[in-house]
Amino acid sequence: MHALDLQQTIGNSVTEHPELVKVYMDHQVDFCCGGDRTVSEALEKDGADLEAVLREAEEAMAAAGTGAAAGPGVVLLSDLTSGELVDRIVGRHHAFLKRELPVLRELLSTILKVHGHRHEELYEIHKVFRELALELESHLVKEEEELFPKLASGGKECGELIRELEREHDGAGEALHRLTELTDHFRVPADGCRTYGIAYGKLQELVADMYLHVHAENNVLFPRFH
Ligand SMILES: [Fe+2]
Ligand SMILES: [Fe+2]
Repeated sequence: MHALDLQQTIGNSVTEHPELVKVYMDHQVDFCCGGDRTVSEALEKDGADLEAVLREAEEAMAAAGTGAAAGPGVVLLSDLTSGELVDRIVGRHHAFLKRELPVLRELLSTILKVHGHRHEELYEIHKVFRELALELESHLVKEEEELFPKLASGGKECGELIRELEREHDGAGEALHRLTELTDHFRVPADGCRTYGIAYGKLQELVADMYLHVHAENNVLFPRFH
């Protein structure tokens, strides 16, 4: 049985079941900013189809094996050593960004050129994305070249650097939220072409991956060194 607990906070539900990010995003349920609402409040307020969310959540949790009967092979971030966590963050999330940011940059420039005259929001999306990508580039360097090596040698006196990185996470979170709004939750307009669909699909993946990435750092790795 992999039932979604409606009484827990929506923030907690994603912490325990990262696979729910996609389900919430598909149903336009805000799990970031409204993180301390209960799942049931959030679904109601954001006007989600309760039955569909429950069904999809159950399927996602069963596929990920993180429901009540979590099987072997399921990795809980809190069980990892800090070294393993860092390897996972760099190997998955940083690699994802290094691969996808340049691709998205091209895609967003392309659709701006083709559709910008009819979809003015593309100018703002282009700008917000460019600024975010620029920030993230130096953020990753700061983590990989400064913080992570320090953590590997005990993590003494990292408090200030960690706080700075957390502030950068907040800034990135705002940009991601803004992109979600500007794209109307990644809804491709009727006159959008295939590239438009690919660009919005990739933007949505970026938001989902960033959520898991920041969660692993802010809530699991960084508190060990505060
Ligand atoms: Fe990171
Ligand atoms: Fe980070």
